[in-house]
Amino acid sequence: MTVVVVGNPKPLSRTRAAAELVATKLTGTPPEHVVDVVDLGAGLLGWGDPKVAEAKAIVTSADLLVVASPTFKATYTGLLKLFLDQFGAGELNQIPTFPLMLGGSLAHSLAPELTLRPVLVEIGASCPAPSLYLLDSDYEGSATLDAWLDVARRHLPGGSG
Ligand SMILES: Cc1cc2nc3c(=O)[nH]c(=O)nc-3n(C[C@H](O)[C@H](O)[C@H](O)COP(=O)(O)O)c2cc1C
Repeated sequence: MTVVVVGNPKPLSRTRAAAELVATKLTGTPPEHVVDVVDLGAGLLGWGDPKVAEAKAIVTSADLLVVASPTFKATYTGLLKLFLDQFGAGELNQIPTFPLMLGGSLAHSLAPELTLRPVLVEIGASCPAPSLYLLDSDYEGSATLDAWLDVARRHLPGGSG
């Protein structure tokens, strides 16, 4: 089961569309679940909220994760961090995970590798491929995406590459 997690304060964002596209191109089928973190609302500000627990259960039962954020101030969003902070160290139990960030320019193209990946690894994600950064203006037809897919597919569970 492929699950997409999107941490954008704006619901139904380009970041979400890009994450669903990446998951679909990567695996050949659309993701079974999309957790749009903004839908979890104020429950993210404490511990033990039932909606957050349900979203966490979906994430921890995934076989593959795409975790996506827009770039805000050179890093991923605070909203996504609120959700990731809900997981214990190692809780993802080595689920293959592909970090994705969208940005307005290429100035912060290392942000997913340098800022998002370490947090995911701390909560137990296995991030086998280089993290992906796409321009918000060009995520659909991006040559960067095609080149990344060639590499990332080699790291799919059951490895086809
Ligand atoms: C508060 C804020 C901070 C931003 N900071 C950056 C930044 O540091 N670097 C960058 O490339 N884009 C930055 N952007 C642009 C967003 O990353 C870009 O618009 C976003 O990826 C678009 O995705 P969306 O349509 O899914 O919201 C910022 C946008 C906002 C609203």
